Amino acid sequence: MCGIIGYTGPRKALPLLLQGLHLLEYRGYDSAGIALATEGSLRVFKKEGKLENLEAVLPASSAAKSGIGHTRWATHGVVSDKNAHPHLGSKGRVAVAHNGILDNWAEIRKELESEGVEFTSETDSEVIAQLVERELETRKPTEAVIAALKRISGTYGIAVAFADKPGLIIGARNGSPLAIGIGDGEAFLASDPSAFASHTRKAVFLQDGDIAVLQAKSWEIRNLRGELSDREAETLPARTAEGDKGIHPDFFLKETFEQPQAVARALGNGGRLVKDLGTAKLGGLDMSPRDIQGIREIVFVAMGTALHAALIGARIVEAWARIPSRAEDASELRSANPIVNKDTLYVAVSQSGETADTLAAVREIQMKGGRTIGIVNGVGSTLARLCGSGIYVHAGPEHSVAATKSWSAQIVCSALLALAVGRSRYLSLGDGRRVVEELEALPGKIEQALALKSRVDDLARRWSRSTSTLFLGRGVLYPAALEGALKLKEISYVHAEGFAGGALKHGPLALVSPEVPTFALLADGETFDRTLSNMSEVRARKGPVVAVTNRDDPRLADAADEVLVVPPSLEVLAPVLESIPLQLYARAVASELGRDVDRPRNLAKSVTTE
Ligand code: M6R
Repeated sequence: MCGIIGYTGPRKALPLLLQGLHLLEYRGYDSAGIALATEGSLRVFKKEGKLENLEAVLPASSAAKSGIGHTRWATHGVVSDKNAHPHLGSKGRVAVAHNGILDNWAEIRKELESEGVEFTSETDSEVIAQLVERELETRKPTEAVIAALKRISGTYGIAVAFADKPGLIIGARNGSPLAIGIGDGEAFLASDPSAFASHTRKAVFLQDGDIAVLQAKSWEIRNLRGELSDREAETLPARTAEGDKGIHPDFFLKETFEQPQAVARALGNGGRLVKDLGTAKLGGLDMSPRDIQGIREIVFVAMGTALHAALIGARIVEAWARIPSRAEDASELRSANPIVNKDTLYVAVSQSGETADTLAAVREIQMKGGRTIGIVNGVGSTLARLCGSGIYVHAGPEHSVAATKSWSAQIVCSALLALAVGRSRYLSLGDGRRVVEELEALPGKIEQALALKSRVDDLARRWSRSTSTLFLGRGVLYPAALEGALKLKEISYVHAEGFAGGALKHGPLALVSPEVPTFALLADGETFDRTLSNMSEVRARKGPVVAVTNRDDPRLADAADEVLVVPPSLEVLAPVLESIPLQLYARAVASELGRDVDRPRNLAKSVTTE
């Protein structure tokens, strides 16, 4: 987590750094800060809380032509002004912004304190500033940074600014993403290139062990031995015009309403579907039909919403391709010393492509010789690069911390994978063509599901003060229930739980009361009647029930207080449609309760630390 921005060039640095911080705020918003370098001094401004707080203490203008900025998601040290980055060395000669976690910071701090260095924060990061400053006594800036980095272990992306060399910014990466942007007589450094993409599309993505030395008109990359590394700049894809909220009050609602377009893009606007063969064409997979036939198992790895999408993906693979498939929590898989089979295809699913746990799981699998592909939204992200092949989700930039459009597009991409693999094995031409038709129809059906908004808003007015909310579903709708609960708790802070309908009587039924609404997800198919029974069981205990269904069955009126009907679809695609009212409900409850919908407390969009 945490976002870093740096600038050096002929322009005033302050507005550029601030703009970068706004674009990086999704990475954390516990505090923010800026260090401006002018001849002989570093001026640091930092403030707890969201960027507005920092803006209130910044000077109206500054002549500084270089500087660094940071937006924090706290790990070591409470959320406070003094723990905000950038951190100054005690002599004020160096400022450092850090993203990552240091392992040996406590012992280094003790050592420096014994030498008389005075620390001003509780963070692990401050040791980097103090170490660099100590090394500067005897070394030039680049050597001082290298010497300091050789002392530390842990993960870092850092930006360093120097009082005595105001045009110089040094960056370094080990485990936390960092890219440099090369402009015309100016250079940028950022955790995510979107922070400078409106100024330059020429970028170099740092690799672990890289030290980037930036001046306005020059840049170079060295390794930890100080040797120059050869690196080519690449051109970033053209930016999409999705950076503002448009008519919507928040990004969450905007992105919820963008799902028809996001899903259409995930389908390649039809280009990924081959109608006459009833299959999917996925150029990025980089697998021959023979490779595909050799797959004996598909294991998805992901976290959070992406994990819920992956759980659905695994069920679709089993349904269409008849290959054993499962989805694993990436953080658990990584630490479980996984048995990696060469005939297994591992699919990492991620919106950002920067989630530390997912990256660590992929590295573990690759280290054991496993084949990995990505289903990734972040073009050029660390995960996309690490996997090298896969399916880009193309949902477009997602700004709200809570995932919406990436979720539906990830399910669709998993379905495309299942279709391609299925057709090369057991799925018939007729069934493949039916799937293609259903996928093509999905954007229009999502549009219809979005029309439920005003009814959902009424429900939120009725139940926003509930102490808890339950979500239940069976089969593919079980992960959709988990996602419904995650969305609600994430943005409204109302306690919510999702569980499988079959589990109801094994414990969760005790939670049912007149104050606790239950959302029951049903789809036309084998599990419909059993979920209907679950609803009766809840109602018999006076629990209010909302049925979300793709089949308008007359029995629902007796078993539910409210029935929200989405268009009919294949059962395995019902989670995409039935999640729409759940996303709208979470957003409506959050807004009823006055929450910051796009930036929920304690969270960040990309979880880049394990
Ligand atoms: O970027 P990723 O898809 O890898 O992120 C995974 C989770 O951190 C993410 O889905 C998180 O759970 C969302 N905030 C949920 O809305």
